[in-house]
Amino acid sequence: MCGIVGYVGGKEAYPILISGLKRLEYRGYDSAGIAVLSPDGLAVRKCKGRVSDLEAHVNGTPMPGTTGIGHTRWATHGEPNDVNAHPHVSANGDLALIHNGIIENYAPLKEELISRGYRFKSETDTEVLVHLIDDIQRKEGTDLPESVRLALENVVGAYAIVVMDRKHPGMLVAARKSSPLVIGIGEEGDHYLASDATPIVEHTRNVVYMEDGEIAILDKEHGLRIRNIKNQEKHPSIQALEIQLEALEKGGFEHFMLKEIYEQPRSIRDSMRGRLNLAQSDIVLGGIKDYEKRMVNAKRILIVACGTSWHAGMVGEYLFEEFARIPVEVEYASEFRYRNPVINEEDIVIAISQSGETADTLAAIELAKGRGATIIGICNVVGSSIARVTHAGSYTHAGPEIGVASTKAFTAQVTLLTLMALMIGHRKGTINGAKFQQLLMELDAIPAKVERVLKTEAQVKYISEIYKDARNALYLGRGYSFPVALEGALKLKEISYIHAEGYPAAEMKHGPIALIDEEMPVIVIATQGASYEKVVSNIQEVKARKGKVIAIVTEGDTVVKGIADHVIEIPDTADALVPLLAVVPLQLFSYHVAVMRGCNVDQPRNLAKSVTVE
Ligand code: M6R
Repeated sequence: MCGIVGYVGGKEAYPILISGLKRLEYRGYDSAGIAVLSPDGLAVRKCKGRVSDLEAHVNGTPMPGTTGIGHTRWATHGEPNDVNAHPHVSANGDLALIHNGIIENYAPLKEELISRGYRFKSETDTEVLVHLIDDIQRKEGTDLPESVRLALENVVGAYAIVVMDRKHPGMLVAARKSSPLVIGIGEEGDHYLASDATPIVEHTRNVVYMEDGEIAILDKEHGLRIRNIKNQEKHPSIQALEIQLEALEKGGFEHFMLKEIYEQPRSIRDSMRGRLNLAQSDIVLGGIKDYEKRMVNAKRILIVACGTSWHAGMVGEYLFEEFARIPVEVEYASEFRYRNPVINEEDIVIAISQSGETADTLAAIELAKGRGATIIGICNVVGSSIARVTHAGSYTHAGPEIGVASTKAFTAQVTLLTLMALMIGHRKGTINGAKFQQLLMELDAIPAKVERVLKTEAQVKYISEIYKDARNALYLGRGYSFPVALEGALKLKEISYIHAEGYPAAEMKHGPIALIDEEMPVIVIATQGASYEKVVSNIQEVKARKGKVIAIVTEGDTVVKGIADHVIEIPDTADALVPLLAVVPLQLFSYHVAVMRGCNVDQPRNLAKSVTVE
């Protein structure tokens, strides 16, 4: 939520900042702004809208200078407009500051500053910080890094900030608490800063992930220094980035979302690579090896996540219960943390997050960790906060997911949960050898089967055309397909703004059936398996009320074909693996409906990719 970028070095800052903001735009796109320091002073341009609007606003007017900061905003305090856009500037025009997060005690701080003569231009919590730093500089006569540190001692909340000062040209000061910041170390004194590594990778592969409570001083002449909030020097740990630049481009697709849907055969394969060993009939998850025994002996597993990751967690519940015979509770991270849950030292908590930065999930982890539980992470973004605070974990290896609607991250998460559940079940002896081997073979065949599902795109597009003007949609599934129904509904509502609900198929008769009329598309996952006949009966119930049924069926199905209005066939697989195939046509359906409705597929309104505020 909110993208931050900074540069200091020997090159012109503006082009680096603007291209960095384009990479970070998926984190928020309510407004954008840039500030550049030159020998002539501080130049600031900002406006409501997207980075392209900012470029138009700058309109070729040069912003020369080799030190600069940029911001793309997801509004929390104050509506998205030019004034509330970052950077915010001190009254004397010396300081410019950008911020991601929320300053919780901004109201009393603001009151105090106003009483001392400070005038606020914006409605943001952020503006408090720039005046506070300015105030400290005046009162204490301290330099920029020390003034930032002293200011932060008074601040409650979450932040990643970057500040620059006309009196300290060639320097950026950054600080983080609960919001991510990555530093890139280039050649000849070039330093980069960003909310994630995507704007940095084209300049350097050497990065430092800032820790909570750290303050970094990026200085053209003196290089990088890191201190903690108590002013103790810290040694920066430099790591090598592994992201490939092509992964950040659309690669010929019209949207990132479509590209990411099509990447799934590869991303699922990458999630299994080096872990699923067919020849030796084994699964090895190196990242959790030391915790395997604890998982095998677990009396209970808690899964915490949000959004799509929560849906993957629900699939995980079914998997762990079926194969490892461990009771599982799947929790919305945001609810878990506020209801004093019962957690004990034998509990295993699996935290799932694509970004690894979701504030609610991080807070749930901290709570469970504080009560002695073992935390296992499933994250996509390498080096992310969640990946670092968990005891152990496995990366999904889906590659960067840029589209705000999560697609390949979901299938990678489900793949990893499948590997974990099968591995624990195998070690524990709750799944027999023959069944284990058969499931490994099925799992290994999934990427090729996803390729086949992708071939249904033209048919899905045709169906999308028919239902693109629907006002509501119902998604039904049972067993492993229930979380898929939830995920299909989330995809449709978040990118096409059609109200959609996911329901367990059998629950329909307890309420939602009242909604069904001739206009209502009902998307049913009705693949062969344990509850096939029951779901067929549910389809009959919808048809009896003249609802329109779009059914996802197993290849060769004739029964549902005879009842439903449309059927989309997917290859046969084990019940437990159906989510990996059945979700794909639902992703394509929401994509095409959104495109046909003229919606911004990759950057849907009001959303942000990485939700770093509570
Ligand atoms: O990065 P995370 O997986 O923790 O994100 C969780 C949700 O914010 C995310 O899945 C969100 O629901 C997506 N927009 C869904 O497509």
